[in-house]
Amino acid sequence: MRVLLAGGAGYVGTHTAVALLNAGHEAVLLDDLSGTHAVAAERVAQITGTSVPLVVGDAADDAVVSGVFDDHGPFDAIIHLAAFKAVGESTQKPLDYYSNNLDTTYALMRVGLARGIRSFVFSSTGTVYSDPADLPFTEESTTSIDLSNPYSKSKRMNEVVLEDIARVNPDLNVTILRYFNPVGAHPSGLIGEDPAGIPNNLMPFVSRVAVGSLEQIGIFGDDYDTPDGTGLRDYIHVVDLAEGHVVALEQAQPGFAVFNLGTGTPVSVHELVTSFEKAVGRELPKVVLGRRPGDVAATYCDPAKAERELGWKAQLGIDDACRDYWNWQSTNPNGYAGA
Ligand code: WQD
Repeated sequence: MRVLLAGGAGYVGTHTAVALLNAGHEAVLLDDLSGTHAVAAERVAQITGTSVPLVVGDAADDAVVSGVFDDHGPFDAIIHLAAFKAVGESTQKPLDYYSNNLDTTYALMRVGLARGIRSFVFSSTGTVYSDPADLPFTEESTTSIDLSNPYSKSKRMNEVVLEDIARVNPDLNVTILRYFNPVGAHPSGLIGEDPAGIPNNLMPFVSRVAVGSLEQIGIFGDDYDTPDGTGLRDYIHVVDLAEGHVVALEQAQPGFAVFNLGTGTPVSVHELVTSFEKAVGRELPKVVLGRRPGDVAATYCDPAKAERELGWKAQLGIDDACRDYWNWQSTNPNGYAGA
């Protein structure tokens, strides 16, 4: 299949492009580079040996999306990964988050439908689940629009919009993939996560401490009702996550489908840090701080539906993720900027 990857030069996008090309598909990347660098697309070509067109532009602009179809189409499918994704930032910039994360969907769907795409895969999040009593979350667990931040709300709003669009386009395959916590990097060390500024998320922060660009790890609370008192999350290796997109696309059926992409195995902050120290080969400076506002004690999924219906199951664990993340970071201490 020929796939348009909106947000394709980003962390998940580049790994998904590699997985698509390795599976014999074709990919064209559309990215505004607000969260990445153009060199990431060159690295995808380096890994796969296949050139990957990168169009730099705004996926929320119908003219830009139409231009991609004119110049690089036709496309069988769109995988929509083009979104702002920092939970904390979203609370400060709600308008930016709602307009970008929804307008991109509107433009991609308007043009995609007009140009006859068969499949639309949407990058959603496990943070749409709203009732901790439902843990481990299945696709039937309670979701809500009344979530703690505009990022998660924008993802839930997208899901509602896409379900209604699927309802009136019976031949269209719409697949929602609810990610848990993406971590790790491609084993080549050529592509990886490269957040701008000081990372909000745990693994990039730990990695920047390991590489020396940040001073010490701050552990946000060790008084949660969890085995070691620190927060539990479902960390999914980005290579497994990318593979999940390929099988979801290859097995997409007409209608609207939702899948959790996670490992189903909760890992604590202490456990992740210990695993990262093992990958680095030394202890890292750390301090226990107060809880971060908005954090929950635990979130992780039951991934059985993706295994049952797609034959997909995460193959990699936290040690693989820390090893691969450190390989990427230690060979790219300044991320893509140093390239
Ligand atoms: C993980 C754990 C923190 C930083 C993320 C993304 C969100 C969504 C889901 C995709 C928590 C602790 C963190 C630090 C720490 N992704 N922590 N010190 O909050 O689960 O959300 O995954 O949709 O976009 O933000 O991930 O990595 O920020 O936190 O102790 O410096 O690590 O308290 O327990 P989170 P995170």
